[in-house]
Amino acid sequence: MILVTGAAGFIGANFVLDWLTVNDEPVVNLDKLTYAGNQQNLTRLEDDRRHVFVQGDIGDSVLIERLLAEHRPRAIINFAAESHVDRSIHGPEDFIQTNVLGTFRLLEAVRAYWAGLSDSEQTAFRFLHVSTDEVYGTLMPDAPAFSETNPYQPNSPYSASKAASDHLVRAWHHTYGLPILTTNCSNNYGPYQFPEKLIPLVINNALQGKPLPIYGDGQQVRDWLYVADHCSAIRRVLEEGAPGEVYNIGGWNEMPNIRIVRTICALLDELRPNVAGPYSRLITYVKDRPGHDRRYAIDARKIERELGWKPAETFESGIRKTVQWYLNNAEWVTNVTSGAYREWVGKQYGRCKGVA
Ligand code: NAD
Ligand code: DAU
Repeated sequence: MILVTGAAGFIGANFVLDWLTVNDEPVVNLDKLTYAGNQQNLTRLEDDRRHVFVQGDIGDSVLIERLLAEHRPRAIINFAAESHVDRSIHGPEDFIQTNVLGTFRLLEAVRAYWAGLSDSEQTAFRFLHVSTDEVYGTLMPDAPAFSETNPYQPNSPYSASKAASDHLVRAWHHTYGLPILTTNCSNNYGPYQFPEKLIPLVINNALQGKPLPIYGDGQQVRDWLYVADHCSAIRRVLEEGAPGEVYNIGGWNEMPNIRIVRTICALLDELRPNVAGPYSRLITYVKDRPGHDRRYAIDARKIERELGWKPAETFESGIRKTVQWYLNNAEWVTNVTSGAYREWVGKQYGRCKGVA
């Protein structure tokens, strides 16, 4: 069986749902259930005996030791993290606690467990650490995309904390021989993404007739990947990746934010027309994110060349599925945007009249 951390969140939940669709190997899912973790993402698995959910912290060494001894996983996939850049700017402490200290404690517990395995179990064991392209910093408009050998130049508290965790897993491989794999992925989108991130926030606000906040000039570029493609890449790296290696994962799909938002507006005009007029009327330019990285782009040739992975979804098909999913799952959106979500929106967008 495998142990997956942070799998009540956006990518982790998609990963577990996909995993149990394509094979029968059981999953223990360890998640702290922060504001971003939501057991409703896993409703489909309620009666599935292949899925065991445990609420807990990757930084809780006693709990991790117990879970490892009880379930004896052959692999760990570490999604658990604080993941939102804007929140890291308002309050970096949680990011250091989970992304740095939590990863360190998890690594230490896993190292002790791995040391007690037989030789063949040790060789087969994997610790896959899920990271981000943001650790590489920002790119000039005509610079080549990030490759695995780019220097680390994180610019936000979030990316600095992820960079620190990447360095820890690298060192635990180099020093202790733990069979580590690291993936650095670009921006994901798709079902179950918490509506604090650009794409679900814009869909949700548009449907409520609220302003669609564009930071700065809206010309920042991200490389968007449909979440199911990220999940298939992680499965591939887990099965075929070489221990100690880093694999960049991306969609070959660079796009400025304003184009993303206009695409969503056009899809909503088609799928849920509004008598008040086109959704693009709600686009509102607001103050820029402090330290905002201008451009990310992933060179995903290594994972294609060495592991034969390529994204299956185009942006056109993926964004259509995503908008349709949010239209079909209005109740999920209502549930996750109650209470604390409203406080967050007030804090972040208070300056932008009507968003909060
Ligand atoms: P998310 O915020 O939606 O989910 C994170 C999950 O981790 C939540 O369920 C939360 O409850 C859980 N968690 C947080 N702290 C924890 C702790 N101390 N112990 C156990 N569980 C904890 O994040 P996401 O977008 O699904 O991202 C998952 C991973 O992928 C993160 O490591 C992130 O850095 C990385 N990543 C995300 C993207 C993206 O575009 N979203 C892209 C590349 C990499
Ligand atoms: O690149 C991978 C990263 O992508 C992941 O590591 C992070 O976990 C994930 O949150 C994401 O980070 P970004 O900061 O790129 O994603 P976000 O959706 O917050 O913002 C995408 C772009 O849109 C970014 O340039 C900021 C801009 N933006 C965002 C919000 C929430 C706006 O213009 N307005 C907004 O209201």
